[in-house]
Amino acid sequence: MDSAFKPVAPVLPAGFDRFFRDISMRVTELSDDDRLWVKERTELLFGGDFVVSRSEVHDPHKLPGFIATEGRERVGLITYCIVGDVCEIVTIDALCQFMGVGTRLLEQAESVARQAGCAKLWTITTNDRLDAQRFFQKRGFVIRDVRLNGMTKIRLLKPSLPRTGDYGIPVRDEIEFEKLLLP
Ligand SMILES: CC(C)(COP(=O)(O)OP(=O)(O)OC[C@H]1O[C@@H](n2cnc3c(N)ncnc32)[C@H](O)[C@@H]1OP(=O)(O)O)[C@@H](O)C(=O)NCCC(=O)NCCS
Repeated sequence: MDSAFKPVAPVLPAGFDRFFRDISMRVTELSDDDRLWVKERTELLFGGDFVVSRSEVHDPHKLPGFIATEGRERVGLITYCIVGDVCEIVTIDALCQFMGVGTRLLEQAESVARQAGCAKLWTITTNDRLDAQRFFQKRGFVIRDVRLNGMTKIRLLKPSLPRTGDYGIPVRDEIEFEKLLLP
């Protein structure tokens, strides 16, 4: 190679990568083929194949939801549960963060909730999940309730739950978020 030749990385305009990701990412309804994978992701992220919210046990792999894919790769999932006119986001999981996966999945679930006539979306996260707290608040959710030491009770059902979570923060409290869906 000519020693004077130096490859230069192309300079792309701001937002270009996001544009391409938006058009290349597909969001489809969770199918039976995805259920085992959802179960595995739940075990990885929530220390068991079930989650507990407001004392209720959910099996995310049995719930309706959406999967985000890039080519043949699954890059995210969301599961939800509609009761009456209220929709709970039971789990949301982006395998590659800060690339728009979570936003696309949440938008899809919100759209389903609106079509089903829901007046509210709600979800629970823990005190260590700072990225999720930022994510939900920037998308119109507000803190509805904080259960200090709420994880102590949940650990009775899930002894395998890690004691240390994101950013090395002790996993201790439950934070409930809600978003009113105005017509
Ligand atoms: C919470 C969670 C789902 C968010 O998903 P995500 O895919 O990272 O979210 P997004 O990429 O859509 O949005 C996050 C930020 O990245 C930004 N972003 C999106 N695409 C981007 C891109 N191509 N380049 C740079 N930034 C980008 C968004 O603007 C957003 O910033 P903002 O919140 O300031 O608006 C994800 O952090 C996660 O899976 N966390 C672990 C599981 C968890 O905590 N779940 C919640 C409890 S159930």
